Amino acid sequence: MVTSEGIERLVRPDLASLGGYTPSKAPESIAGELGLRVEDIIKLDDNENPYGCSPRVQQALGDCNYLYTYPDAGQTELRRQLQEYIGVDASRIVADNGSDQLIDNVLRLFIEPGDEVINCVPTFDIFRVRALIYGGRLVNVPRDEDFAVDASAVKRAISKKTKMIVLANPNNPTGTPTPQKDILELVDTGVPVLADEAYVEFSGETVTPLATKYKNLMVLRTFSKWAGLAGLRIGYGVFPPKIAEYLMKLKLPYNVSVAARVAVRETIKDIDYLMVRVKAIVAERERLFGELNKLGWLKPFPSQANFIFCHVLKGKASEIQKACQDRGILIRYFDLPLLQNSLRISVGKPEHTDALIKALKEAGKK
Ligand SMILES: Cc1ncc(COP(=O)(O)O)c(C=O)c1O
Repeated sequence: MVTSEGIERLVRPDLASLGGYTPSKAPESIAGELGLRVEDIIKLDDNENPYGCSPRVQQALGDCNYLYTYPDAGQTELRRQLQEYIGVDASRIVADNGSDQLIDNVLRLFIEPGDEVINCVPTFDIFRVRALIYGGRLVNVPRDEDFAVDASAVKRAISKKTKMIVLANPNNPTGTPTPQKDILELVDTGVPVLADEAYVEFSGETVTPLATKYKNLMVLRTFSKWAGLAGLRIGYGVFPPKIAEYLMKLKLPYNVSVAARVAVRETIKDIDYLMVRVKAIVAERERLFGELNKLGWLKPFPSQANFIFCHVLKGKASEIQKACQDRGILIRYFDLPLLQNSLRISVGKPEHTDALIKALKEAGKK
């Protein structure tokens, strides 16, 4: 008989020892530690939209009388609105509680213990963590020194056990785009390809329309970044119709909240307003790149997303991150085998760039 005592003995050993995803630290706790107000924290660590969501969303959420009801499990209206936005038939679209959840569901749908998942590293760590949870074996294909995907190396890594190739485009944390011809080279192998386009509104390069042409191409997108809705958790994907059907069965029934659905509806009515802000972020990205470069001790990499990855040429990334944090500016640092001594900085408003550069100059003097 199993007793409640010591039930941790019964936990899957592979999950007990799993190295999980490292999320950012909550700004509330950092503000508390620094004795600052949360509003004074400059948050450049999670690639959010510093301008926030459309004011239409704020208004509609305040006016929404249906928060006491469950959302439509079939996502009928939501999928129709997404169809309007991306121009792909609703039967191919599935929405979920952030694109993270779709990564999880797609891997759950395909990966059985021992199946191989090709991952173009360094990249978004959720692919690794979720593939391992389903017993997948990761086959890591390193990107080149500029973080470009080596399509030939990916093809050479394909074996009889390969179930999927996962690819963030542009890549996180490096901001590197993968040209469409390279993605199609991978799609042409016939292996299922999961193209994660979380930052596509900033890059303008998408394979979404091609997902209707190729039976093995799946594309994920999100409202977290461009639409300023990370807190409401809405991601979606475009799939072959049968895969969309399976994902609709696999997802939890009420997976996208009523509030998130209201937000999507109002966002899609306000695309022009939001795209002006996306353009401002893209322009600011280029200014930030120039400012980081001018420091002389950082090597920023060109980015097609709303963040910039930098190697630290002099000093320690962890200390620079801490020095910025002490000044209320949150950025990410990495010190991993494939991401040595480096920083990832989200693009903020112009005043955020100014405050960041000032903090970096002070940190660099030490
Ligand atoms: C490449 C990539 N995919 C997916 C996500 C997750 O986005 P969501 O907020 O939709 O779960 C992120 C977030 O950082 C990301 O960088």
